[in-house]
Amino acid sequence: MVGLPARGKTYIAKKLTRYLNWVGVITKVFNVGEYRRKLVGPNTPHDFFKHDNTEAQKIRKECALAALIDVAEWLEGDGEIAVFDATNTTRERRKVIIDFCEKHCYKPFFIESICDDPEIVQSNVTEVKLTSPDYQQVNKEEAMNDFLQRIEHYKDAYEPLDDELDHDLSFIKIINVRDRYLVNKVTGHLQSRVVYYLMNIHIMPRTIYLTRHGESMLNVEGKIGGNSDLSERGELYAKGLADYMETQSITDLKVWTSRMKRTAQTAAEINAPIEQWKALDELDAGVCDGMSYEQIQAEYPEEFALRDQDKYHYRYPMGESYQDLVARLEPVIMELERQKNVLVVCHQGVMRCLLAYFLDKNSNELPYLRCPLHTVIKLTPVAYGCRVETIPLPIEAVDTHREKPKVIPNIKREKHLSGGHSHAGR
Ligand code: SIN
Repeated sequence: MVGLPARGKTYIAKKLTRYLNWVGVITKVFNVGEYRRKLVGPNTPHDFFKHDNTEAQKIRKECALAALIDVAEWLEGDGEIAVFDATNTTRERRKVIIDFCEKHCYKPFFIESICDDPEIVQSNVTEVKLTSPDYQQVNKEEAMNDFLQRIEHYKDAYEPLDDELDHDLSFIKIINVRDRYLVNKVTGHLQSRVVYYLMNIHIMPRTIYLTRHGESMLNVEGKIGGNSDLSERGELYAKGLADYMETQSITDLKVWTSRMKRTAQTAAEINAPIEQWKALDELDAGVCDGMSYEQIQAEYPEEFALRDQDKYHYRYPMGESYQDLVARLEPVIMELERQKNVLVVCHQGVMRCLLAYFLDKNSNELPYLRCPLHTVIKLTPVAYGCRVETIPLPIEAVDTHREKPKVIPNIKREKHLSGGHSHAGR
């Protein structure tokens, strides 16, 4: 990351990391401010950040180097991407990073956030900086004063990425959040994926609502998949959901459903434009579609055990895994990032994948997230994450959640029902 304090660097670093982990690229943020707090403690006055404070400069470099050592350890282990979250506002500091990457054969990619819109900077300062561990036990006014002076010290030495001087580097400059971007020398698939993601996100206030369809006829029979109609209680939920959305008084609400009858029927009475996405269809259970768990266990005991063993990667014969579903849902997430207020009416498996993205849940947790029927989950972005509200509507429904088994089976696949597909990917 590159940029003055309060330019959204940590927001971008955390959000990008959450996205990359969700798509399966193992990523971690290394925040140099945290190293500094460990070394010198919180409540560091602004003088510490003066460019001519040589003693403090030494400490700050020490913190950056300590973080880089941890970056190397991470990348030599399981880590695939390290996000180095610091100001990196001088060419000299960026040279340290470039040399470090060269030495280890890592590919650096710089993300610079430039922002001269006083409103955005002000809201960033008030929303995240004043509550930061740097200002524990300091009153708001004093904290604000100190932080603004800190920014001024950084400005004294700031050397933004430069079209000519940094021509050989790979970078994106994000100017005033979404106003303009400058992209230079993007190399490879991951960098272009990062650029695409960064060009889609925004910071406008909005709410995302997630719900499953109302109870379906197959839910009542305890069967998975299929394309059945709503049950009577499911129809009541459709009415209840429309009434609930009215209470939210959102004028520009959009509603997205899958192509399945049960989501379309659930959304039918909502007073907002409805769009159907094939990508939102439920996880394809292949040969097990339309069966109950008891039937699957009786007819395909090996498959049943394999799924319990590794639910995220397990792919139903002729069907999909959660991992496949995440890949299918990536365009939905990208479009959700671009939109404002959206209600997504979807399915248990799909809702788990979407929730995992917003709540930063890993692939072990994802397939077991609780998404009960007849319940709305309301997500509102705050600071670096999402506020979650769970709103159960008072209409009974069957419980379709299957807990993670206490004893995880340990078996190897003997025969392939899936026509030669491995579980590792397509
Ligand atoms: C900090 O100490 O808060 C950040 C150090 C930096 O990157 O300038």
